[in-house]
Amino acid sequence: MDTGRRHWIIAIDGPSGAGKSTVAKRLARQLGFLYVDTGAMYRAIGLKALRHNPKLDDVELVASIARASTIELMDSADGPRVFLDGEEVTEAIRSESVSQAASIVSANSEVRRVLVCAQQQMGSNRNVVLEGRDIGTKVFPQANLKVFLDASEETRARRRFEENRCKGGTLSFEETLAEINGRDRRDSQRTDSPLVRAEDAVYVDTSGKAIDEVLREILRLVEERQAREKGKNSHET
Ligand code: DC
Repeated sequence: MDTGRRHWIIAIDGPSGAGKSTVAKRLARQLGFLYVDTGAMYRAIGLKALRHNPKLDDVELVASIARASTIELMDSADGPRVFLDGEEVTEAIRSESVSQAASIVSANSEVRRVLVCAQQQMGSNRNVVLEGRDIGTKVFPQANLKVFLDASEETRARRRFEENRCKGGTLSFEETLAEINGRDRRDSQRTDSPLVRAEDAVYVDTSGKAIDEVLREILRLVEERQAREKGKNSHET
C-alpha cells in the first residue's frame, strides 16, 4: 500500500468493550501494519504491581515498577503475545483483578510517562495501528487517522460477559456491567490523559454492527485519507 512520504499512524481509542482490540488487530493485519495494544502494557504493569503490593496504594512503588520493567509485544501465528521482564504474561494479564489493577495504575502519571514514551518509540519509524485510551489525544496527536470506537453500555457489557464466559469467567452480566462502568468512570475521570474523544477523531458506534462492517468503514477512511495526502503531496512537488 502507498503510505506517502512518511509512515502511517492509526489511533483507535474508546472505552472497554467497544470492539477496539478485534478491529485494531484485523485492521493492522489487513494493512500490513504493526499492531500495538497499549492496554496490554498497562495490564503488565498492573500485574507486576499486584504481585508486589496487592493494595496498589504505594504510588512511588508503582512508578518505580514501571521504570524498571521491560514489556515486549510480539506477533505470533496465534495472535499477539505479551512478555514482562522476559516472562510470558499473555494470559495472566486478562484476569478480572488485573483489569482493575491496570485501570488503577494507569492513573499514575509516572506510569503513563514511561509507557507513552515506549509507545511513541514503537511508532517512530513504521506503519502502526495503536489502540488505547489516549492515542489520539496524547501518544500520537498527529496520527494520520483517529477513530473513536464506542458502543452502548449494554452492548459493551454483553460483549465482555460473553467473552469472559467462554474463558470460564464467573461474573454475572450485572457484575460485568458494574465492573465495566467502574473502570470506564475511573479511566474517564482521572486527571492525567483521561479517556476523551480527540476533536478530530471519527466517531464510530459499533452497537449492533458486525466487525466486518466496522472494518470496512475504517478501511474506507484510510483510503480516503491516503488519496487526500497523495493529492496534497503531488500538488506540492
Ligand atoms: O484496553 P484495556 O482494557 O486492555 O486497558 C486496560 C486499562 O489500561 C484500562 O482500564 C485503562 C488503561 N489504559 C490507559 O489508561 N491508556 C491506554 N492507552 C490503554 C489502556
